[in-house]
Amino acid sequence: MKRKLSLFLVLALLVGMFALTGCGQGSSKLIGVAMPTQSLQRWNQDGANVKKMLEEKGYQVDLQYANNDVNLQIQQIENMITKGCKVLVIAAIDGSSLTDVLKKAADAKVKVIAYDRLIMQTPNVDYYATFDNFKVGVLQGTYIEEALGLKEGKGPYNIELFAGSPDDNNAYFFNDGAMSILQKYIDNGQLVVPSGQTEFNKIAIQAWESAKAQARMDNLITANYAGGKKLDAVLSPNDSLAIGIVASLQNNGYGTPDKPFPILTGQDCDKANVKAIIEGKQSMSVFKDTRTLAAKVVEMVDALLQGKEAPVNDTTTYNNGVKVVPSYLCEPVFADKNNYKQLLIDSGYYTEDDIK
Ligand code: BGC
Repeated sequence: MKRKLSLFLVLALLVGMFALTGCGQGSSKLIGVAMPTQSLQRWNQDGANVKKMLEEKGYQVDLQYANNDVNLQIQQIENMITKGCKVLVIAAIDGSSLTDVLKKAADAKVKVIAYDRLIMQTPNVDYYATFDNFKVGVLQGTYIEEALGLKEGKGPYNIELFAGSPDDNNAYFFNDGAMSILQKYIDNGQLVVPSGQTEFNKIAIQAWESAKAQARMDNLITANYAGGKKLDAVLSPNDSLAIGIVASLQNNGYGTPDKPFPILTGQDCDKANVKAIIEGKQSMSVFKDTRTLAAKVVEMVDALLQGKEAPVNDTTTYNNGVKVVPSYLCEPVFADKNNYKQLLIDSGYYTEDDIK
């Protein structure tokens, strides 16, 4: 009788523990997801996809957007730690500003996954999930190379260069990737940069703002393209900059038979930019399927909470100044007017109506 009772107690205890830890159900564990801003379409999609996929696995999700305000993002992360989040998924606004708050996360045994952008200057980031950022730049550079026939020796062509926000580690990778293709043509004179501005700090646009890109393009045109000189290509690292660049080009008379739009690159396949591609104002964008990235992050969260190794495919590239962060790099692909239907519509990413 006594033995039966103790067996019963042990069983009851085990059932209780199982229920408490939520084993086997993905459980009611809380995951914090910190996104930079809602002002750019892609981050809304990223946030929604990560939340949905985590919830499908049984997790609870605290999703926050920080309006590109670094201090607000830090506060949001602090709250997530206080609320008892077990894992934080963070797309940083300023990659180097989270050192202190992530020390608090580490003290509270909270795991951290850097989402899309590497978190710099801290040992307290466990994994990084992103797209191959160098390859994004290579796709943009290669598009320009092919569109202008640079390999065949054509030129000289006028080009202006833009880069992303200096507080975003990705911006350097995009630029390095693009210049790995284009620099040789600048060196041999097939590409000419009339403004002379080629250094990262001269061409970078703080906070990836469309309006700042538009203002810089206006200035470049006024100062360097007087007397009928025309632009043949503009390297834009992403779609939000491309929007501003197109606005400036239009205001400056581009988009006519005499003065056609230059080749213009982008990244993200935001809806407005896909429309611009269809209308011939932007030449290409880089498609980074946020569903793929979200799914990878959910795999990482699951692995971390089960005390397992998360999936990675790169353990050398992403040094955050303190350590090399084990990374999973998804594949970016280029999109233009010839393949966008197959990439974006047939795959269910957008409906036809989305890009009308
Ligand atoms: C992302 C890009 C995005 C840019 C601006 C980068 O970190 O990788 O996809 O266009 O930020 O938000």
